[in-house]
Amino acid sequence: MISTDAVLNALKAVKYPGFSRDIVSFGLVKDVSAANGAVSVAMQLTSPNPDAARQIKTEAEQVLKNLPGVKQVVVEVHQPAAGQAASGGAFANQTRVPGVKRVIAIASGKGGVGKSTCSANLACALSHLGARVGLLDCDIYGPSIPLMMGVYERPTVNAEERLVPPVSHGVKVMSIGLLLTDDQPVIWRGPMITKTIQQFLLAVEWSDLDFLLVDLPPGTGDAQLSLCQTVPLDGGVIISTPQEASLGVVRKGIAMFRKVNVPILGLVENMSYFTAPNGERVEIFGHGGGKEEAARQNAPFLGEVPIFTEIREAGDRGTPVVVSAPNHPAGQAFIKIAEALRSKMA
Ligand SMILES: Nc1ncnc2c1ncn2[C@@H]1O[C@H](COP(=O)(O)OP(=O)(O)OP(=O)(O)O)[C@@H](O)[C@H]1O
Ligand SMILES: [Mg+2]
Repeated sequence: MISTDAVLNALKAVKYPGFSRDIVSFGLVKDVSAANGAVSVAMQLTSPNPDAARQIKTEAEQVLKNLPGVKQVVVEVHQPAAGQAASGGAFANQTRVPGVKRVIAIASGKGGVGKSTCSANLACALSHLGARVGLLDCDIYGPSIPLMMGVYERPTVNAEERLVPPVSHGVKVMSIGLLLTDDQPVIWRGPMITKTIQQFLLAVEWSDLDFLLVDLPPGTGDAQLSLCQTVPLDGGVIISTPQEASLGVVRKGIAMFRKVNVPILGLVENMSYFTAPNGERVEIFGHGGGKEEAARQNAPFLGEVPIFTEIREAGDRGTPVVVSAPNHPAGQAFIKIAEALRSKMA
């Protein structure tokens, strides 16, 4: 058995032409797989120089063929076309999603705060306001968008070999949950997540959209990084509960976007309060934490969404509350936030 670590180690012997640094430490090796004596490596150069690509490919093939147990070697070297020389760095390979005007990421510092619920409802609310909208679920380990949007059909492939996203409640939807069968757990490593997210952005027929909302998994892992490196994001929205905001978890999400130069569109406080049957307002997680934290972080506050049983029920039924009950206070809360979002992006 050849391990991917052994492959990476071997590739460290290949120097970038003209430099003393190797191709691995330069971050050019994007994907490695090894099975049954076959090794496949994908690299992405930031320079369009064909000689550099040729030399790297030849040397990489050579060192890999010399590894014990390797029978077959495939080395793919990708590079930008001449004239599009990148300025360098990890974000040098960003491309815009064809036909999509704005890509907006929805993130949170922590799980379970209602990111997916907000993503689904905001997508439907923007569509309700007349925009053309797509919703991409970047949660590879726990995709919940198909359930919340009520999508069960598998995407089809068109004549250009691009994935055609199913449309639900007027929104184009893509999720790993639509491609896997049943309850198969996903146990992928970073490079596969990166590749999947790149394909979700660039090999899906999204056009034409005013907004592509991207539901991110919690935290700041491979999915977040892959997204930021693949396409320029037009903005980021942070979802938080009042409690999480007051605990400073929001700061992590904001810091992540700032680090990769993504404009912060604002913070949404979810599960703000609960209205008891007698009309009393119960602030389960405290109140106002979101607004205060947004002010402290110099980020706009987009609005609050109370706790409503209807929101959860609608999500479980696959018809977001914005669609099933647009005039209910829950639906209205999301529509107001969508309006705020739209005016920020006008
Ligand atoms: N305002 C709300 N009122 C009532 N229920 C809500 C509200 N927001 C979210 N929920 C419910 O809370 C649960 C968690 O929400 P959701 O799955 O959207 O969170 P998430 O942040 O995407 O979680 P994860 O980190 O696992 O991706 C769901 O059952 C959802 O229906
Ligand atoms: Mg989620």
